[in-house]
Amino acid sequence: MNRIEKAAINNPARRALQRLYEVPTLLRLAGGPLPPGAKAAELGCGPGYGTRLILDRFKAAHVDAVDLDPYMITRAQRRLTAERHRVRLAVGDATDLRTAFGAADGAYDAVFDFAIIHHIPDWRAALAEAARVLRPGGTFVFEEVTAHALARPSYRILFDHPTEDRFTAEEFLAELPRHGLAVRGSLTRIQGDYLLGAATRTD
Ligand SMILES: C[S@@+](CC[C@H](N)C(=O)[O-])C[C@H]1O[C@@H](n2cnc3c(N)ncnc32)[C@H](O)[C@@H]1O
Repeated sequence: MNRIEKAAINNPARRALQRLYEVPTLLRLAGGPLPPGAKAAELGCGPGYGTRLILDRFKAAHVDAVDLDPYMITRAQRRLTAERHRVRLAVGDATDLRTAFGAADGAYDAVFDFAIIHHIPDWRAALAEAARVLRPGGTFVFEEVTAHALARPSYRILFDHPTEDRFTAEEFLAELPRHGLAVRGSLTRIQGDYLLGAATRTD
């Protein structure tokens, strides 16, 4: 991420959007909080505000959160000091949770993607890894930025994203069943730019 996007992510406005709109929407799409004792993984946790919402609002008992950027993990460590017994943070790649956490197949009840998979050049590998570490019946919660948004002048001028093989909402949704992920109920789409939903690991 470039400096402008880092500033946009480390920002009270981003936190308010996540707290007041995104998480309530995702909770509705996921059918409510996680079951008691649930263990979650978070891909690309950034400064850890979403991690806290996974604990407080989705009611996860434990979260393993990974980010490629050591600066973000340092910020998350500071933010989550009080929750450190319930959170494990690692610098690492969302496409390889075995290296980051030793995550076995089916290790988690839920995996969270808060606006991160569009940053990964091999986005299909990130979906494959999310599916691998989910137990059957587990939940994949996603909030994504599509190729439609990334093609907008504002995104191209201000931010730095992979430019090839970006996904539309339809392409992202079509990829889910290839990894045993079935969309649960309805989705929220915002102008073809953003896609929010939840999917169940089917087998
Ligand atoms: C747009 S930010 C989102 C941060 C946070 N999830 C949020 O919603 O505020 C994307 C984050 O993904 C991280 N990231 C990018 N590629 C990654 C990868 N392959 N594995 C893990 N994290 C990655 C970036 O360092 C950045 O912190």
